Amino acid sequence: MNAAETAIDTSTKRLCAGGRRPAVAVLLGSGWGPFAQAVQGAEVVPYAELPAFPRLAVGGHAGEVRLGRIGRHEVAVLAGRKHAYETGTADGMKGAVRTLARAGVKVLVQTNAAGSLTHALPPGSTMLVSDHVNLAQASPLFGEAGDERFVSMVDAYDPALRAAAHAAVARLGGERASIGEGVYAWFMGPQFETPAEIRMLQLLGAQAVGMSTVPETILARHAGLRVLAVSLLTNMAAGLSGEQLSHAHTLATAAKASERAVAQLTAIVEGMEP
Ligand code: HPA
Repeated sequence: MNAAETAIDTSTKRLCAGGRRPAVAVLLGSGWGPFAQAVQGAEVVPYAELPAFPRLAVGGHAGEVRLGRIGRHEVAVLAGRKHAYETGTADGMKGAVRTLARAGVKVLVQTNAAGSLTHALPPGSTMLVSDHVNLAQASPLFGEAGDERFVSMVDAYDPALRAAAHAAVARLGGERASIGEGVYAWFMGPQFETPAEIRMLQLLGAQAVGMSTVPETILARHAGLRVLAVSLLTNMAAGLSGEQLSHAHTLATAAKASERAVAQLTAIVEGMEP
């Protein structure tokens, strides 16, 4: 075993200690932190105890996995992601996703904050990702050997999981029942986009833009996991409104909208057939 495989092996044993067998993993992005409270009977494992997981630099957010149940499912909820804009490489979550696969996880549910490219998805709304555009043209599989690296990205965001997610959100009723669907375009960041870039993305047929998610989707498909992704639209993208874009603004909008978003995600996970 090489060092990376040993790290995945050690991390898998830690996550599965005591006979745990998570079937669904949820990766929390900006603004989705309160979802961690949905986990019942949670045990918390810091990333620091999982050698295949990233070391996160952001102040106060060391990263942790919350193991427990949501509805009928054993889950692993990951708070903390390594972004490609931190290092210039897209493979920061490689060991973590491979550990989840080794631990028996069947579905990776990703969440993110994103900018909206359409007034049909105003700030505060949520969107199921139907597909993505990898505009960064970076891959977490650079340097990977073997024919499996030529992984198909058709239906990368599982159509059956999406249909079940729409049904679960509809069952919430009232104003919680509304969720959109669209294409997520990945820009590496960390700077926000220019208005000209946003006009280009609109021409390309994208509905949301963000700085995450795509690398983990590629890793998960490569590892044989099914993927679902939900975006929380925190702002109109650059040039589409008079708002000043900032990370603080992203977090402030997310905080206001997170109650509904978290209720939707909880219903989605509860209603899921992994
Ligand atoms: N652009 C990129 N990433 C984002 C945005 C945005 O407008 N909002 C939240 N994350």
